[in-house]
Amino acid sequence: MPRRWWGIFIDIMYNIDDLKNTASQEAQGIDNPQALEAFRLKYLGKKGVVAEIFAALGSAAPAEKGAIGKCANDLRVFVTSLIDEKGKGVVISSKAAAEAIDISLPGVAPLRGTSHILTQTVDEILDIFKGLGFVVADTPEIETEFHNFTGLNIPLNHPSRDGFDTFYLDAPDKSEPGKKLLLRSHTSPGQVRIMKAYKPPMAVIVPGRVYRPDAVDASHSFMFHQIEGLLVDDNVNFAHLKGLLTEFCKRFFGAKVEMRFRPHFFPFTEPSAEVDIGAEALGIKNKKWLEILGCGLVNPNVFKAAGYPDGRYSGIAFGMGVERMAMLRHGISDIRLFYENDVRFLKQF
Ligand code: PHE
Repeated sequence: MPRRWWGIFIDIMYNIDDLKNTASQEAQGIDNPQALEAFRLKYLGKKGVVAEIFAALGSAAPAEKGAIGKCANDLRVFVTSLIDEKGKGVVISSKAAAEAIDISLPGVAPLRGTSHILTQTVDEILDIFKGLGFVVADTPEIETEFHNFTGLNIPLNHPSRDGFDTFYLDAPDKSEPGKKLLLRSHTSPGQVRIMKAYKPPMAVIVPGRVYRPDAVDASHSFMFHQIEGLLVDDNVNFAHLKGLLTEFCKRFFGAKVEMRFRPHFFPFTEPSAEVDIGAEALGIKNKKWLEILGCGLVNPNVFKAAGYPDGRYSGIAFGMGVERMAMLRHGISDIRLFYENDVRFLKQF
């Protein structure tokens, strides 16, 4: 039986709040695009609740038309806002999504990663030495006491062993009874390994990780990276060492770099020096000189450990810390930044 206009009118007037309540309760349960669409059709579709109320307008008394129309509108606005709000949380249906893709828009470029700044620094240093005629070699990170100490003229009771004393593995060294394997404390064991395996002339560069019993702070880490250099030939002297490292520093830090060779002691080189570079040219204020590497002429005892005939060869050796080089070059003040993997730091390079 068709409803009379006043019945509808009264229905609507009394039920508009009920309708809204029902609609918002229904909206709460919506969790997928299909349900959202069904909800939309129920209220806003051609045969939906709002359309039904508008249809009733035709049979309403002229005086009431305004009030009924207002109710219908009210409900439409209310349901539309529910749909909008829900729609944000619910994935739009695939058909709607397909329609929403504008293929003429430029795509979103995927983020491109870069090499870690330490890798970049190692590569750059290796490139410089490769350009000077060196070849790159990899030697073990897990070493024997012989290669890390004894073969480098650091006997068991030598005081300089303390600073280098490192992490011992719970694994026996098969080459020496009673000894344990260890994590190398510098890349210098590479010198002994390479000399044992090859005959001079040679110019080799060995990058890699090293480990020290150091507590971590802004400038120390129990693990860091070094690059070792070794050149062995006839009649190599300190002038070759100075010339080589001066050229390297100019290429790495720029032609204006200031350098000094400061006498030092290493058991595996004689004479030995440390190289400092001028802080001012790098924009560093509170210091005058910054140490960047250790170097010297290969100690005859190291040749002996490698099995070379006494007095036959001479050589240059040097070792530098990669973190230190990167910190000076880029003004990085805390070594821990290299290992934390914070993209805000990493993406600057
Ligand atoms: N191995 C030394 C260090 O770790 C550096 C060095 C290498 C010094 C080669 C001289 C020659 O400090």
